[in-house]
Amino acid sequence: MKERVFVTGGAGFIGSHIVEALLQEGYEVTVYDNFSSGRRENLNNIINDIKIIEGDILDYEKLKKSMKGHQYVSHQAAQLEILRCIEDPLIDLRINTIGTLNVLKACVENRISKVINASSACVYGQAQYIPQDENHPTNPNWPYGVSKLATEKYANIYHESYGVSIINLRYSIVYGEREWLGRVLTMFLKRILEDKPLVIFGKGDQLRDFIYVKDLVKFHNLCFGSNKNLGNNVYNVSTGIGVSIKELANIVIEVSGKSTEIVFENVKEGEFSRYMPNRKRIPAELKRMVLDNERAKRDFNWYPATNLKEGIERELSWIAENPSYWRQTDIIHV
Ligand SMILES: NC(=O)c1ccc[n+]([C@@H]2O[C@H](COP(=O)([O-])OP(=O)(O)OC[C@H]3O[C@@H](n4cnc5c(N)ncnc54)[C@H](O)[C@@H]3O)[C@@H](O)[C@H]2O)c1
Repeated sequence: MKERVFVTGGAGFIGSHIVEALLQEGYEVTVYDNFSSGRRENLNNIINDIKIIEGDILDYEKLKKSMKGHQYVSHQAAQLEILRCIEDPLIDLRINTIGTLNVLKACVENRISKVINASSACVYGQAQYIPQDENHPTNPNWPYGVSKLATEKYANIYHESYGVSIINLRYSIVYGEREWLGRVLTMFLKRILEDKPLVIFGKGDQLRDFIYVKDLVKFHNLCFGSNKNLGNNVYNVSTGIGVSIKELANIVIEVSGKSTEIVFENVKEGEFSRYMPNRKRIPAELKRMVLDNERAKRDFNWYPATNLKEGIERELSWIAENPSYWRQTDIIHV
């Protein structure tokens, strides 16, 4: 009999790639999603091969009942809009922290053997050194990071108290096909397709670590497939390579084959851009975010196979073929 995986947030950007890959590996998959930012069209190619349950992780009874009969849980559902959580941290606390607690409780009730919890690089806050390994201090600079760090701490308690095996994956910046519109790479891609200059806030020396979504999914599925006793563990899922925003803009220009101009805008944190309507520079912006991935490489013999130029080529081709995807988006995550 096929093993069954329950994926919360399975209609989202990362979740939909996880679902596709799990199917290819022979699992049976149930998607549990409230479709707040996720979309059915993300699952179009596999819609007949999966079970979809429209539900909220805050609805504990429905969650617990829906999870029955599965062996594994991949918990991807979350609210991840940074500006939204700064304005109202209770939203993150509810959806991310209380929602995750509901997932963990339901996992115990349903005797789930392995859980993957989507955590984030945001648990670290400003880098004290790079690349940041899993032992780097955790001082989140945004409520979102606090809500994710709390999920890891609860995971630890659930492991200790009930023996549930929970693997917390701290993703760096994930990009690729079906990425939602909002972050800097998507803004660059959108503007380059519209023949508008690329806008960089400040000097563009902020460092970021971009992981291609299918590389992340590969690691995610290795965790499910592994017979290792993973207990309660934490892994960075990243490339370990820091790319400045200025370098990123130049790669986008190179990949597009256009001769687009770059504009450096001296916009203060928390203020709106003059060039991009409704676009604010995030308060408490991270100066450097580069995550060490040695633990993941050592334990799973995994490595991120896609270089940034190649991954951006794929995302650019996808959005060029699906131009309405970002026009339809009514939510801007940052
Ligand atoms: N995208 C990244 O770069 C990144 C980086 C670090 C961590 N993460 C984490 O990865 C996970 C997936 O992120 P994503 O980029 O795919 O975002 P996404 O918004 O595309 O996916 C989130 C999914 O969760 C669903 N959802 C939200 N609230 C829900 C609720 N209350 N009940 C049920 N479903 C709900 C949404 O409808 C959506 O399908 C999240 O946990 C996020 O915090 C993402």
